[in-house]
Formats: sequence, structure tokens, C-alpha cells
Amino acid sequence: MILIKLGGSIITNKEKPLTANRLAIRRITSSLRKIKEPLIVVHGGGSYGHYWSVKYDMHTKPSKYSIKGVSVVKNSMVELNRIILQSFLESNLTPYCLPPSDFMFADKPIMKKVKEISKIANIGLIPVSYGDVMWFRRNKFYILSGDKIMEILSKILKPRLAIFVTNVDGVYSDMKAKRLIGNITVEKPTMTEVAMDVTGGMSRKIKEAVNISRNGTKVFFVNGNVPKRIVNAISGKGFEGTIFKG
Ligand code: IPE
Repeated sequence: MILIKLGGSIITNKEKPLTANRLAIRRITSSLRKIKEPLIVVHGGGSYGHYWSVKYDMHTKPSKYSIKGVSVVKNSMVELNRIILQSFLESNLTPYCLPPSDFMFADKPIMKKVKEISKIANIGLIPVSYGDVMWFRRNKFYILSGDKIMEILSKILKPRLAIFVTNVDGVYSDMKAKRLIGNITVEKPTMTEVAMDVTGGMSRKIKEAVNISRNGTKVFFVNGNVPKRIVNAISGKGFEGTIFKG
């Protein structure tokens, strides 16, 4: 089984609120047709969920956020999810909408439910989940990121690979010279240097990747503008991007 995260940077235009990058989505979904293994997909919020959660000052920490904000963020994610599902269908694939509230209770995964997800994937459906605003308890909500969902699903389902698709080639050691790091072995101490050299968003992603690879799943970062690289990462041929090994 393969777990794929479609980052907000590739599926939306981050500069423009509420704009999906339909061309990039379509190119990715049609390349996924070549994959013959069970797939589970998670997508981010980009200029949909992220845009509104910033506007309403909502974060990953459970708190009593604006209920208008909760409503708007949730709605925007349903909208983006619908665009993604539609693209899967148009590419002749069989997506299966999977809101995270289907398998999470507050901030904890519901084990029984998560385990069923792989059965859904095994019969040929492609569960498509997404980062969302979640009910916590006592009038509190929190933002659950797609990256966190990747960590939860890989810990429980132990996929063969976890692939993070973004709009850059992988992890850079130096943003100016754009020197790409091909391999990151999690045990190595150079890891902390890497994390400090990259932007906030990327360093959070790297942390999730490290956590996932510690559990034994190989993690890839690839550029979704070249969808062939996703297929190559899976087939093990001519990989271009960054690999994390635990
Ligand atoms: C964000 O998910 C979800 C919301 C803000 C509702 P992610 O944090 O995974 O999104 P991207 O991929 O970074 O845009």
C-alpha cells in the first residue's frame, strides 16, 4: 500500500484565495492511473483551508475558536475535496471520500476505523482524506493537518511508502543555491542542521517525515509539477527528490 499526500502548494494557488490548481491536480490524478498498488490519498488546505484558518486565527492547538471560522474552514475543505474527487473520477479512478471525522475521535485515531481504511483501499477504491477543522471537546476545535493524518495513517497501516507531493523538488540544504538533498538518514545528526535551513512550513513537514520514517516507512518528497516522479518513486526507477530512511 502507498500513502500519498498532495500538498496545498501543488493543488492550490497559494497566492490567490480559493483557487485550485486544476491543471496540476488533473496531471497528478491521471499519472496515478499507472499505479497498480492500493493507494490512500490525503490532501492539504492550501488557499482553501489555510487561507480561512489564518483569517479566523485558528491553529492546531485545541481552543474555543470562532464558530463562524469553524464553519467556513470546514466548508472550504469540502469544496476543495470535491474538486480533487472530481479529478480522480475524470481520470477514470475510483476515489472514496474520507473526511477525517470518519476515523478520528477528538485528536485520537479510532483504531477500528483506521484499520478498515486499508480494506477499502484493497478492493480498488482510493480513500481520499484531507486536513480539516475538528471538534475537540468542550466547545473546542483544532486544525488537523494533512501531514499529521499522514503520520497517523502510516503508524497504524504501515504502508510500503509515504509520498509527500509539493511544488518543489524535495528538501534543500541551502535555499539560495537550491542544493537538493537526495537522501536523509534519520539517525544522522545533520538532520537538525537541515531543519534549521528550511522555511517554517517545510521544517514542520520534515519533522513529520522523520516521525514516519522512524516507524519504518520510507518517505519520499517529490515535485508534483513533474507527476512522472511520483510514479517513478513507486516503481523504484530513476527517483528524483528526497528520500527519508529510518
Ligand atoms: C491544512 O492541512 C488543513 C486546514 C488548514 C484546514 P495541511 O497543513 O496539510 O495543508 P497544506 O498541505 O500545508 O496546505
